[in-house]
Amino acid sequence: MSGIVGYIGKRQAYPLLLAGLQKLEYRGYDSAGIALQGADGINIIKTKGKVADLQKEVGANLPVGNAGCGHLRWATHGPPSKANAHPHSACSDDFVIVHNGIIENYLPLRGWLAGEGHRFASETDTEVLAHLIEHYYRGDLLQSVQEALQKITGSFAFIAACHKEKDRLICARRDTPLMIGLGEAENFISSDLAALLHHTRKIHILENEETALITSSAVKIYNSECTVMQKRAQEITWDVTSAEKGGYKHFMLKEIMEQPQALRETMRGRLSDGGQKINLAELNFKAQEIENISKIFIIACGTAYHAGLVGKYLMEKILRLPVEVDVASEFRYRDPLLCAKTLVIVISQSGETADTLAALRLARERGQQVLAITNVVGSSVAREADKVLFTWAGPEVAVASTKAYLTQLLALYMLTLYLAAKRQALPPARLKEIGSALFKLPAQVENILSREKEVAAIAGYLKRWESTFFIGRNLDFAVALEGALKLKEISYIHAEAYAAGELKHGTLALIVEGIPVVALATQKAVLEKSLSNIKEIKARGGYVLCFVQEGMEALQNEVDSIFYLPTTADIFLPMLAVIPLQLLAYYTAVARGCPVDNPRNLTKSITVE
Ligand code: F6R
Repeated sequence: MSGIVGYIGKRQAYPLLLAGLQKLEYRGYDSAGIALQGADGINIIKTKGKVADLQKEVGANLPVGNAGCGHLRWATHGPPSKANAHPHSACSDDFVIVHNGIIENYLPLRGWLAGEGHRFASETDTEVLAHLIEHYYRGDLLQSVQEALQKITGSFAFIAACHKEKDRLICARRDTPLMIGLGEAENFISSDLAALLHHTRKIHILENEETALITSSAVKIYNSECTVMQKRAQEITWDVTSAEKGGYKHFMLKEIMEQPQALRETMRGRLSDGGQKINLAELNFKAQEIENISKIFIIACGTAYHAGLVGKYLMEKILRLPVEVDVASEFRYRDPLLCAKTLVIVISQSGETADTLAALRLARERGQQVLAITNVVGSSVAREADKVLFTWAGPEVAVASTKAYLTQLLALYMLTLYLAAKRQALPPARLKEIGSALFKLPAQVENILSREKEVAAIAGYLKRWESTFFIGRNLDFAVALEGALKLKEISYIHAEAYAAGELKHGTLALIVEGIPVVALATQKAVLEKSLSNIKEIKARGGYVLCFVQEGMEALQNEVDSIFYLPTTADIFLPMLAVIPLQLLAYYTAVARGCPVDNPRNLTKSITVE
C-alpha cells in the first residue's frame, strides 16, 4: 500500500506534491520521491526513508516545474533503497512512473523487455511498467499506457508522465484506489482523499480499469475500451482527519474493513483459477527439501503467535506432521529440540520484533532452515530468513493487529496447501476443494463486516464489565486467544481465553451472575462438547455471547446472544470467526472511551527483549 500524488497546473508543483506526500505518510515510509517536468527534462529526486528525508535531500534549492508526481513506498518487490524508490524512469528519462500495487507478471515482461534491449536499474515490478510504456510509445502517451495495460496482470494505481508531452499526466487503476481532485486551472491526483481535500472537494474517484488523461484545465476518463466516459465529479464532505482514516474514526476500524482487500492481495499470483491452483514458487523449495520435512516449529509473539496456533491445527490435520508452536521469548531459553529435518517458521508483522528475530538467529545458528512470514519487505526478519512468504496487508498503523493477523493466517493456509500438494498429503480433488474454499473467504469476510452493527450491539453488554472469558475447542480455542488479546489491549477489560473443556478444572469458580463469556462454537466436529461447556456456564449464571456457523440454530435457545458466521468447512472458520471478535474489541473500546489506535503502555513494534 504505497501512496501516490500528482499535480498539474500553474503553481510550482514541488511544495504541493510534498504536502500531499506528508498527508499520505501512513501509507508507506520506506522511500520517498518526486518527479517534476522541468524545462530540459524530467527531474527525479528520491531517497530511502520518509518525506522528511526527501526534504533534507532537496535542501534549500527547491526544484521547479508545474507538473509532476510523487510517491511514498511500502516495499513489495525489492527492499527499501534509493534504487528501488519511485519515481522510476525507463531507458530514457523522458518517461517516469509512480505506482501502487503489484504487477504480477513483471518477471516474464522484464525478460522480454531485456531481450528487446531495455536496461533495468531497480528490482521493482514498477520499473517494468515504465519500460513497457516507453516500448509502446509512438508519440502518444495515453495510447502507449493503454497498450501497456493490455499486457500487465495484477493490481495497480499509477501516474505516468512523458517529457515530450509536458502538458499532461496519465493515470490508471485496477483494484487499488486512485482519485483526481479538480481545481481552478489545476488538477490533483492522489491515492486517497487525505491529500486532496485541502485543495478541492470536487473529486473523481476512478473505477477499476479506467484510465484518465489530466491536463491543467481538463480531465478525460476512458473505460477499458478506450472510450471517453461522461462522468460527474463527486462533492466530498468528509473532514480531513477522517479522510486520512478512509472516513473511519480510527485506523483500527479502517484496517479491519480493509481485510477483504488485504486477503485478495495476499492471494494474488499465488492462488489462481478460483483456488484450483496454488503457486508458491517464490519460496524456492527443492522437492527433496519438502519431502524431508519431518517436523515443523512455528515461532512468534503476541497476535502472530496466535496465528501460529491456528497453523499448528491446520498443518497437523492436513500434512500429518508434528507441529510445535512457541512464543519466541520462551523458545530461545529452553534449549529447543531441533533436527535437520525440522522446518522453522517465524511469523512477524513488523519483521523487527526483538524476540522473534533472536529466535530466528538461534534456529539458523543451529543449522535450521527458517521460513519467515512477514508483512515488511526489507525488515530484519525478511533479510535474515532463508525463505520469505510476504503478506501483502499494507502498512498497519493501529497498534492492535487485525489485517496482519488475517493475512498471516492466509499465508499459513496457502503454505499448508502448497506443502500438501508437493508431499501428496491429500488427493488432488480435496486440495482443489480447499483452494476454492480459501478463494471464497474474502467475500465471506465482506459479508461479516457488513453486519458490524450486530457486533456493536453485543459490545453494549460487554462494556460494563471488568472481566470476561473467551472459550472454544480446537481451532476455536486458538481464535479465542486472539479475541481475548484484542479485547484486553484496547478496552482494558480483563479477558482470559480457555480451552472450553478446561474451564471446569478451576476457572468455573469465577463464573458469577451475568459475567460475559464469549463462546466460540464454530467447529461442527466438537459441537456437542462445546454445547455442554456452554451449559456449564449458563447453569452458573454466566451470560453467553455465542459465535457459530449458520445452520447451528439449535444453540439459539441455549445462549444469550448469537452471531452467525457464513458456513464453510471447519478448518476455515478461524478466518471468519476472528472478524466479529476484532469488531467486538473495537466497539467495546470505543464505548468505554479508550484511545483505540494507541492503547496505553503498548507500541506497534517491540524491538526490546
Ligand atoms: C497485538 C499485537 C502484538 C504483535 C506482537 C508481534 O495486537 O499486534 O501482539 O502481534 O507484538 O509483533 P510482530 O508481528 O510485528 O512480530
